[in-house]
Amino acid sequence: MRIQIINGPNLNLLGIREPEIYGKKGFEEYLHILRNTYPNIRIDYYQSNVEGELINKIHEVGFDLDGIVLNAGAYTHYSLALMDAIKSVNTPVVEVHISNVHQREEFRRRSVISPACKGVVCGFGLDSYRLAIEALLHMK
Ligand code: DQA
Repeated sequence: MRIQIINGPNLNLLGIREPEIYGKKGFEEYLHILRNTYPNIRIDYYQSNVEGELINKIHEVGFDLDGIVLNAGAYTHYSLALMDAIKSVNTPVVEVHISNVHQREEFRRRSVISPACKGVVCGFGLDSYRLAIEALLHMK
């Protein structure tokens, strides 16, 4: 089984950026734990701050993997191009957020990508990524 994690803008600063919201752990450290938790799954990781690069990545992997776990960061709330990209591929995409976006500012409650995704996990800190992988595993 192969899963691609894609992180969008500002998520390269996890551990540094607003730690009271996103925690103190960097993503690479968490990824190490995640890969050890699922030794039989190939988990690839990609991060970009650039919308078009995220779209290119979805196109690249979206036809032959078992699942994509996508935290689109703030693009979640307004990128119709990302929503179209998710719709264009056949690999199921699980939308993930570290924070509970529904407890935060009004603009974070709206996701334009959710309708194109298989499901959404949010509010469980970095564990949201593991829960998304669990969901993909159970879809098999
Ligand atoms: C986020 C929530 C978004 O609103 C925000 O722009 C992010 C991170 C989350 O993981 O909680 O960059 O996607």
